[in-house]
Amino acid sequence: MNQKFIFLFILLISLSATNAIPFEKRATHFQDCIDENGNFRNAELINVSMSIYPLVSNQNVIFDVSGTLKNDIKDNGLVIAQLVDADGNNICRFSINATATKTGQNFDIKTPQHTLPDIPDKYNLTVFIMNPSNPPNDNEDAIGCAKTSVGF
Ligand SMILES: *[C@@H]1O[C@H](CO)[C@@H](O)[C@H](O)[C@H]1NC(C)=O
Ligand SMILES: *[C@@H]1O[C@H](CO)[C@@H](O)[C@H](O)[C@H]1NC(C)=O
Ligand SMILES: *[C@@H]1O[C@H](CO)[C@@H](O)[C@H](O)[C@H]1NC(C)=O
Repeated sequence: MNQKFIFLFILLISLSATNAIPFEKRATHFQDCIDENGNFRNAELINVSMSIYPLVSNQNVIFDVSGTLKNDIKDNGLVIAQLVDADGNNICRFSINATATKTGQNFDIKTPQHTLPDIPDKYNLTVFIMNPSNPPNDNEDAIGCAKTSVGF
């Protein structure tokens, strides 16, 4: 390789690397909710996308929740979105009826528009699919879940 070519090659690589960084930051990385104490052990990872991201104070958001689960989403199933601040205090929590879906079938549920309250710089967002039992037990009832942290 002549030197000119090597220079161009390095320039291209560094350009693509610097371009990749801001995009990577914007991506939403959701992870499953199962923790070391066995909480949410029935909750398989679901896909979550949002009409706006990052979330903006006082703006509307629509959540799109999809995936395939090993459990049926029952007739009384719910989609619940929950935001907490860095201290675990509730910022907002809202739920809608899920679409009943058999084991192994794909589901894709869009929430209606929801107006957000003030959103702090740091928050944790969790989205659940729940089959509420009586009395409700979030840790057992969640069959799907995804969580993400912003600003930490
Ligand atoms: C999320 O969506 C992607 C692309 O549609 C798919 O490949 C993936 O399996 C989905 N993940 C889950 C947990 O459903
Ligand atoms: C949600 O489901 C409950 C029964 O599980 C029903 O009473 C209620 O009307 C439903 N709400 C909407 C908005 O469909
Ligand atoms: C929020 O998420 C961060 C990073 O995953 C975690 O360390 C922290 O314990 C969570 N805080 C609350 C209140 O859930």
